[in-house]
Amino acid sequence: MSKGFTLWFTGLSGAGKSTLSLPVAEKLKSLGHKVEILDGDIVRTNLSKGLTFSKEDRDINIRRIGFVSNLLSRNGVVAISAAISPYREVRDEVRKMITNDGAGFVEVFVHCPLDVLAERDVKGLYKKAIAGEIKNFTGVSDPYEAPVNPEVVVDSSKEKVDESVDKIIARLKELGYLN
Ligand code: ADX
Repeated sequence: MSKGFTLWFTGLSGAGKSTLSLPVAEKLKSLGHKVEILDGDIVRTNLSKGLTFSKEDRDINIRRIGFVSNLLSRNGVVAISAAISPYREVRDEVRKMITNDGAGFVEVFVHCPLDVLAERDVKGLYKKAIAGEIKNFTGVSDPYEAPVNPEVVVDSSKEKVDESVDKIIARLKELGYLN
């Protein structure tokens, strides 16, 4: 059985977490890994349905995603999390839980400057957040704590999707996770 691990994307809304998770998952599958993606937007429609964007509820959301990622990782699956996960403390808590249980944890910080995100505004949420129509919006009116020592940093304002994917795969290889 291949060694399971959790690939944890963190970054602002629209930075590219989901976009990167898909080709990374395909690449890992092509190398013979079993892969599951836990995408924030999707988790919030089922496992975390009803949760708000308060700090308490975001932490619950992240602990749930971390819990499932742990179950998968310790059974040889690659769990890919793609949620904002804005708080460092709970990300580190999840990292500890997963590594203590024997699987790996690889944190990918998907960076993108706020002005670029507000300009792209794929979902139209930044415009509303800046106008005050959405409260507690991460990066605008709610905190985002960037990782201090992530295993990988990508910058979607400077790199093409393929370049970021290659960077992540190269780092996983370097860390000894790939088949
Ligand atoms: S997290 O903070 O709990 O990790 P998660 O990744 O699940 O967040 O959900 C983020 C998505 O919810 C965003 O991409 C965006 O589409 C939507 N969203 C709605 N309201 C907010 C908000 N106040 N802050 C951030 N994202 C929001």
